[in-house]
Amino acid sequence: MESNYIVEMKAISKRFGSVQALNQVDLELREGEILGLVGDNAAGKSTLMKILSGAHVADSGQILINGEEVSIRDPRDARSCGIEMIYQDLALCNNLDVARNIFLGREYTRGLPFLSILDKKKMYAESAALLERLKINISSPRLKVERMSGGQRQMVAAAKAIAFDAKILLMDEPTAALGVREANTLLRLIKDLRDGGHSIVLITQRVPDILAIGDRVMVLKGGRRQGILNVSEVGLDDVVELIVRGRAGAESEEDAMEYLSFG
Ligand SMILES: Nc1ncnc2c1ncn2[C@@H]1O[C@H](COP(=O)(O)OP(=O)(O)OP(=O)(O)O)[C@@H](O)[C@H]1O
Ligand SMILES: [Mg+2]
Repeated sequence: MESNYIVEMKAISKRFGSVQALNQVDLELREGEILGLVGDNAAGKSTLMKILSGAHVADSGQILINGEEVSIRDPRDARSCGIEMIYQDLALCNNLDVARNIFLGREYTRGLPFLSILDKKKMYAESAALLERLKINISSPRLKVERMSGGQRQMVAAAKAIAFDAKILLMDEPTAALGVREANTLLRLIKDLRDGGHSIVLITQRVPDILAIGDRVMVLKGGRRQGILNVSEVGLDDVVELIVRGRAGAESEEDAMEYLSFG
């Protein structure tokens, strides 16, 4: 049967010791959309995406890619499904330059198999082309990552995922540590990636970012899905209400008071 979704997660549960991090959570991601994943601290957002990227294995539940059930036991399985996760504490090597980071772990080589040397020319050329295609404002693929801003690093990580041929990008609070201007540049890149056909799950605490660039937004609270909303049909208040109170509305009046007094 043809599926409308590129990714479906069904009834995913995950427990860490006494903590039920996820309780029967469903998620559907459409092809070519940005799905925001929001919720308070400890809601289960990162855990859900780590299960999709193979960093954790769910206790129960199913994952379907293009309607077919898949087994994702480790990041390699995820990669073969076209899934890449970009972590907040990026797995980039600071002492290497942009191109070497992009090709880390799958460097081009030339020569004989037992006497191969790195094909740096090819890696620099392809990295430069990739930066240009993604309109990433980094002047040279020879720049060392340690000299880059947080936003530029996020963009290098995104470029690396794209170079790996990822169709599905999972981003865990990529704008959290960024200033307004850098965050906006990164959001533009995320939008461009979506427009280029990538399917993206964007975890963020910044609901307005999702309302600005997202297609749908899913709310988690206490390891349970509270709802999945079309961005075009909701406002900030609706989403915040769901984050704070959950589906059952007034069930957590205390949380709401707390949120409002800190918010
Ligand atoms: N590796 C782990 N070991 C033990 N408990 C964990 C682990 N990872 C997550 N948890 C617990 O699972 C729950 C959900 O955590 P998760 O990191 O998924 O939340 P989150 O929604 O991403 O929160 P935040 O907004 O703070 O990043 C929390 O109670 C957390 O303490
Ligand atoms: Mg998290």
